[in-house]
Amino acid sequence: MTETAHFVDGDKELDFTKVRATDGQFGYDVNGLLSTTGNIMLDPGFVNTASCESKITYIDGGQGILRYRGYPIEQLAEHASFLETAYLVLNGELPTAAELETFENGIRRKTLIDERMRDLFRCFPRRSHPMPVLSAGIMALSTFAHTPTSADLDTLDDAAVSLLAKVPTLAAYGYKNSMGQPTLYPDNSLSYIENFIRMSFGFPTEPYEFNDAITRGLEVLLILHADHEQNCSTSTVRMVASSGANLYSAISAGVNALSGPKHGGANQAVVEMLQFIRDSGMTTKEFVEKVKNRESGIKLMGFGHRVYRNYDPRAAIIKKHADKILELHTGRQDLLEIAKELEETALSDDYFKERKLYPNVDFYSGLIYEAMGFPINMFTVLFAIGRLPGWIAQYREQVSTSDKIWRPRQIFTGADERDWVPIDQRG
Ligand code: CMC
Repeated sequence: MTETAHFVDGDKELDFTKVRATDGQFGYDVNGLLSTTGNIMLDPGFVNTASCESKITYIDGGQGILRYRGYPIEQLAEHASFLETAYLVLNGELPTAAELETFENGIRRKTLIDERMRDLFRCFPRRSHPMPVLSAGIMALSTFAHTPTSADLDTLDDAAVSLLAKVPTLAAYGYKNSMGQPTLYPDNSLSYIENFIRMSFGFPTEPYEFNDAITRGLEVLLILHADHEQNCSTSTVRMVASSGANLYSAISAGVNALSGPKHGGANQAVVEMLQFIRDSGMTTKEFVEKVKNRESGIKLMGFGHRVYRNYDPRAAIIKKHADKILELHTGRQDLLEIAKELEETALSDDYFKERKLYPNVDFYSGLIYEAMGFPINMFTVLFAIGRLPGWIAQYREQVSTSDKIWRPRQIFTGADERDWVPIDQRG
């Protein structure tokens, strides 16, 4: 039986159908609200609004649960590879051994980028931030891809494999460019993660030696970032997809949305915050007091989340890896100590308890990336490489389940109609 919720506004009445979820909150389908009442809903920041139905990722923010296609993040981080996770996120099921091999080989064959694309990197200033370079690189890729301007499901799979293959190459080239070092061609005898590590840290003149803890650590971090339902960048991807724009345009827009410090840029901001605490000689308690003083405008970066009102399960997994990886880079253990103390101070403070503010995925990830050897401005790029399968899956779900362009409304609160005034009569 269809369940409904009754809505009354004066003499106007309407039944909202309750859309059941597999788990978690159901949704009131407010379709018909405008045509029946002449009015719309106001929900700044979409705090109460589901923009779509989705089968990809489930989050229970109160319990700290995250599952891709039903599989708990803890199990995937423990047992899966990144490309196996990407296959799951994209296709809905874990691959068989044969399916995984075909998927991996398809990606391996496409890791090279056009030679003229390599020239593109020379146009960017030496110290340019690798995020805008990645975003521009993805749009440049689309000019070589002969992709139709509209979303075309037939070419989508090819574009998806191409992006999964080439984005790590682009990211490594952006990094090498920022360091003024020569770029390396991909080596397709290596795994996805190894290939990216070698293109980032290797030199054409000598063989690269891998460290297993770093390779697996990076793989786990990418798995943890593979999707996170309707966050800011993913909603941006779906918004662009809804216009019929191609996958490259949507993913490039997602990269731009991710760059903000309230979103993917937070991992960079956390390390800068920890460095500030260390260099200023402030205690963590003094810093927490500064955060609580609203006039300072300072937030505790890496804390708080729109959906999690509990420990972010990804942060818990990362924290377990932090000690192991930071052992490799003893110079950074001072920041890890500050981070742990800061976490303890905040978690025992009423301000954070009352608001249910816990560490999120970015609290420890930046420290690990740095211990692996990545400079601070690469952290968000690593987040983007991890999030790519999720963005592609969400794009595909968007274009295959709805042909409606996304077009939010507004409540207009500006000036009422008034007449134009000649310039000499104004003031
Ligand atoms: N430090 C201090 N106070 C905070 C923080 C924080 N990090 N986060 C939220 N608050 C306060 C906020 O000021 C508000 O207080 P009050 O009710 O007194 O006005 C209350 O907690 C609720 O916060 P909100 O801003 O309404 O929460 P939101 O859901 O709109 O924002 C957030 C979520 C992630 C943008 C925010 O918590 C934040 O800015 N955190 C720091 C940046 C960060 O770590 N971002 C990474 C998020 S996880 C990875 C990703 O999604 O990319």
